[in-house]
Amino acid sequence: MEEKLMSLKNDAVSLILDASDEKTLEEIKLQFLGRSGRLTLTLKEITKVPLERRAEVGSLANEVKQSVEEAIERQKQILKHQTIKVRKQTLDVTNPGIKPPLGHLHLITQAMEEITSIFDKIGFTRVRYPEVEWDYYAFTALNFPENHPARDDWETFFTTEQTDSEKGQIILTPHTSSGQVREMERSVAKLRELARERSETGVDGSKDKLYSGPDLSIRMLNIAKCYRRQSDVSHTQMFHQFEGLCVGENISIVHLKGVLDYFVKSYFGENRTSRIRPYHFQFTEPSFEIDVTCGVCLGKGCKLCKAGWLEMGGAGMVHPNVLTYGGIDPKKYSGFAFGWGVERVLMMKEGIEIDDLRLLYSNKLEFLEQF
Ligand code: PHE
Repeated sequence: MEEKLMSLKNDAVSLILDASDEKTLEEIKLQFLGRSGRLTLTLKEITKVPLERRAEVGSLANEVKQSVEEAIERQKQILKHQTIKVRKQTLDVTNPGIKPPLGHLHLITQAMEEITSIFDKIGFTRVRYPEVEWDYYAFTALNFPENHPARDDWETFFTTEQTDSEKGQIILTPHTSSGQVREMERSVAKLRELARERSETGVDGSKDKLYSGPDLSIRMLNIAKCYRRQSDVSHTQMFHQFEGLCVGENISIVHLKGVLDYFVKSYFGENRTSRIRPYHFQFTEPSFEIDVTCGVCLGKGCKLCKAGWLEMGGAGMVHPNVLTYGGIDPKKYSGFAFGWGVERVLMMKEGIEIDDLRLLYSNKLEFLEQF
């Protein structure tokens, strides 16, 4: 019995050491340790060994079984390392690599960066004001009388029923114009503080009086998400606007037109021009709608445009009441403001036509990868 066990062990181990792949190893395992494997059957014969020797033979049998199992495991590990080595050897470092797919900024983010840098060159600094805003800054301080039907134009989302006695309800801002009075308040507060520090005479430090001191100069660019109850091929509930505000002494429509032309040429190209058309907004007087020549027909008139023009958005001279809400004396200072849609200018830019604006926010890579 002992001899038989030892020879089985030798057979098994030599086969195992010769095995060159895992499949062969599995077969050897079955041949010796399987249900009717050679070693398994021999182990069953232990009952035939006389009782007094049975314990000794039994423990030898167990040792043999164990060494066969261990030999199989060891060989498995060896084979694994060999395959890794073989694989490593076949790696040809001179082959061109596989490029991981590179993403890019969303096209709206790209447009916002471009717009920011265009305005930065003429001194307009990008600011950020709340997108979840008080009714006060979005409407009241922009010269909308309470319950004025014009408030409905903006189809606003209201967030709570809560109302602050001064600032009203909390809304999702429907336009970036809500940054106008915030910017005025910030500039005036800064000038008042400076004047107090220098103990200047002639500048009233009190908040109740309108600011008519020197040095007030606002050049703001407010880019933000805006929200309105709308959703169709040319409107999304969330969209982006960029708002310019310029306040200073003797600011006139000429400055507005100059800035507008500068933007149109820089963003759309030298071959595009703009025009201003009378319009109405509560917070500007006079107010305008701004048109830009169509990128397809360059002003001649085509299917895409209204007789050569595409509408870009609103603008106007800041209403004296709005300056007053901002704490600025409208007798000394004047300004202009404009508010245009980022999505809209992007679509108006030559070469980019988006049939359905909602695609911009659907996160479909097939769409986004085109840009
Ligand atoms: N806030 C206006 C809108 O959303 C645009 C505008 C901005 C008009 C500034 C005049 C001045 O339509």
